[in-house]
Amino acid sequence: MNLEEVLQSLPADASEAIVEHNFSQPFLKALGFDFQEIVPQFPVSRRAVDHAARKNTDEDAFLTSHKNPFLYMEVKGRTENLSDKNHPDYRRAVLQLKHYLMSPESKTVRWGILTNSHHVQLFRKHGKVVHPVTPCMALSGDCRRLIKDIKRRIEEPNRALIIAVYNNKGGVGKTTTTLNVAATLAMLKKRVLIIDFDPNQSDLGDALNLKPLQGKILDVLKSKDPSIRDVIKPYKFEHPRLKEPLSFDIVLADEDLVSELDETRLKQQVKFHALRRSLEAVQADYDYILIDSPPNWRIFAQKALYAADVVLVPARHDNLHSLQNAGTAITQFIPEAQAKRQEAGEAGPIALPIFMNNAFRETGPQIQLMHQAITRIIKEARRNANGFDLTPYFYPKSRKGHENRKMIAIPYMAYISRADFMHVPAAFAFKPAREQYLNLVKEYFV
Ligand SMILES: Nc1ncnc2c1ncn2[C@@H]1O[C@H](COP(=O)(O)OP(=O)(O)OP(=O)(O)O)[C@@H](O)[C@H]1O
Ligand SMILES: [Mg+2]
Repeated sequence: MNLEEVLQSLPADASEAIVEHNFSQPFLKALGFDFQEIVPQFPVSRRAVDHAARKNTDEDAFLTSHKNPFLYMEVKGRTENLSDKNHPDYRRAVLQLKHYLMSPESKTVRWGILTNSHHVQLFRKHGKVVHPVTPCMALSGDCRRLIKDIKRRIEEPNRALIIAVYNNKGGVGKTTTTLNVAATLAMLKKRVLIIDFDPNQSDLGDALNLKPLQGKILDVLKSKDPSIRDVIKPYKFEHPRLKEPLSFDIVLADEDLVSELDETRLKQQVKFHALRRSLEAVQADYDYILIDSPPNWRIFAQKALYAADVVLVPARHDNLHSLQNAGTAITQFIPEAQAKRQEAGEAGPIALPIFMNNAFRETGPQIQLMHQAITRIIKEARRNANGFDLTPYFYPKSRKGHENRKMIAIPYMAYISRADFMHVPAAFAFKPAREQYLNLVKEYFV
């Protein structure tokens, strides 16, 4: 039976076992894996994911070696609701798939599929990040397009993770974070591109003593087939103790984006997806692309979030508005960007846990005030944002029934402003800053 016949023959209330037995093999086969390339009940951290798959090589057959899985598929019964993002069935299933993908034995796995044979969703694993790359799609009627879409994505070479750094509160460290995370990833030999998408300030280029462009990005964004490639510049950091310079690439801000056109005209001329498409053109050349965004929720911030796979949100423990705005970004702005992406048949972006920038090391009255404020923000979000639970975004180590208020943080460091004056990333110039950012990068990405 081919996949469509299988789908038609399955009863509407088919149990997990029935779906697994009848649907999994034909579906994975349609994605290009033959019988010898699929292992059912693949053991992962004392449990088992329903299917693991990987193309065989001349030396190594996956069915016999069980080595280096490439893709996991978790199967559910047809009565489980995977089409409603807020449904407990869906949330549980995603957590389970993420757990498998993040397990130490899953190092080589790059893709995760969640399906109940009514719906299917594809997730990507990039370093420590798992993010959806397609919305939850219906498997009905002619599913050739859907299969083609998933197949195309999983066969592509590894592409950069696109990270927007965003909080609509000003001065929380968006630019500093973009620069130092990029520098740290570059030290780890990752290929990194950073984008200054805050043309009103152009702080990112300024931090490296590089002058803004004029008109170039506007041309890229307005073009029919946009590619950022022609406006990329290399940045190199040289030091006598370094065998070779440390480097990453940068796209500088474009002054004309703010001086030539008002926001209404800009919105007419630059399509919503223009930044995303222009980055996709170079996405296979990098491991990470970071976008520095402005402190508001207007055109550039909206496009930056729309373009991203994930959003990194800095806040300050001693600034109430930065905490509130971090909550608003996660409960309102990111879902707005998700809705726009869904209109284009895509998924994303998702929020990473918030981190406290400029944080004090010691505990004290200010820390207590911060926790009290966060508790209020979490409660309000539950009430006003459809039951949205912000807890894991503020307290990523917290588990149900086990409260843990440890937060991800970068301390206050005088080195950071010193590096500002020197026009170099602090992580390149000062060891203590390097160590802090290395911790941050390991927490989130590698
Ligand atoms: N961890 C830190 N320790 C000390 N100073 C810091 C730290 N993080 C940021 N700063 C300083 O705080 C100031 C604001 O940082 P930054 O420009 O990165 O914020 P921003 O969110 O990009 O601001 P804007 O909203 O205006 O774009 C800068 O002078 C920067 O050097
Ligand atoms: Mg900034």
